[in-house]
Amino acid sequence: MKKITIGKMPQLPFEMSEAINQLRVNLSFCGSNVKTIMVTSSTPNEGKSFVTMQLWRMIAELGTPTLLIDCDFRKSEIRRKYGLSTSGHLLGGVHYLAGKAELDDVIYETNIPNGYILPVAKNVTNPTILLESERFGQMMEQCCEKFGVILVDTPPLGSVADALNIATHCDGTVLVVRSGETPRKLVGNSVQLLQRTEVPLLGVVLNRAEVNSKSSMYYNRYYKSGYYYKEHSHEKSGNAQK
Ligand SMILES: Nc1ncnc2c1ncn2[C@@H]1O[C@H](COP(=O)(O)OP(=O)(O)OP(=O)(O)O)[C@@H](O)[C@H]1O
Ligand SMILES: [Mg+2]
Repeated sequence: MKKITIGKMPQLPFEMSEAINQLRVNLSFCGSNVKTIMVTSSTPNEGKSFVTMQLWRMIAELGTPTLLIDCDFRKSEIRRKYGLSTSGHLLGGVHYLAGKAELDDVIYETNIPNGYILPVAKNVTNPTILLESERFGQMMEQCCEKFGVILVDTPPLGSVADALNIATHCDGTVLVVRSGETPRKLVGNSVQLLQRTEVPLLGVVLNRAEVNSKSSMYYNRYYKSGYYYKEHSHEKSGNAQK
């Protein structure tokens, strides 16, 4: 299997890492038949890729072979933002869906133990035909046989139907909401859209929420007297919680 090195994957501060861990645990309670999980949001920039990447890394590092499929075919930022590099020519989902590569050619091992990635090598302007093709369904089915967990990063629901198409091939969906930014009405619309796919909406992640000072103090106290030490912090953003 070919290898991708992820060059930029910063370690998260404790609160954030714990929030991602809570999300992981909550998703694991959804049952063993929930393997393929799509992550989306109402608008751009709410943190879909961030949450997907961090959750992917955490599940993988704990020992489950986990595949991240980048399905943001129009505007993927993962390659640039996370510094993905490989020795040869990068092949991705579009190559497979267009019949120019086999599945084994587009799934890469990474420097995250048990973490595999099916990247976007080249953005395309209209992936609808590819997403609606039989080959997309086959890709999802075959990935499901090979991996323990599959996380799918997608474009936002707002302007294009891509995520809704992708959802129909997943066992569940997760909606990321940027705290204090995304209007309530938009979140309601997104929930309705996702519910119409009849694929279970597993949960909503309130991303970048302000750390509640009381609970933050509790956790800091707990970990001081327990097995992890952290100074009290007044970080206002950067929390992800389910
Ligand atoms: N909880 C967080 N704490 C700190 N930074 C965050 C958090 N969530 C997202 N970010 C940052 O916010 C920016 C937007 O996040 P990201 O790219 O994940 O959003 P997105 O929803 O995938 O956007 P797009 O719709 O363009 O794909 C990134 O720079 C990311 O690193
Ligand atoms: Mg993204």
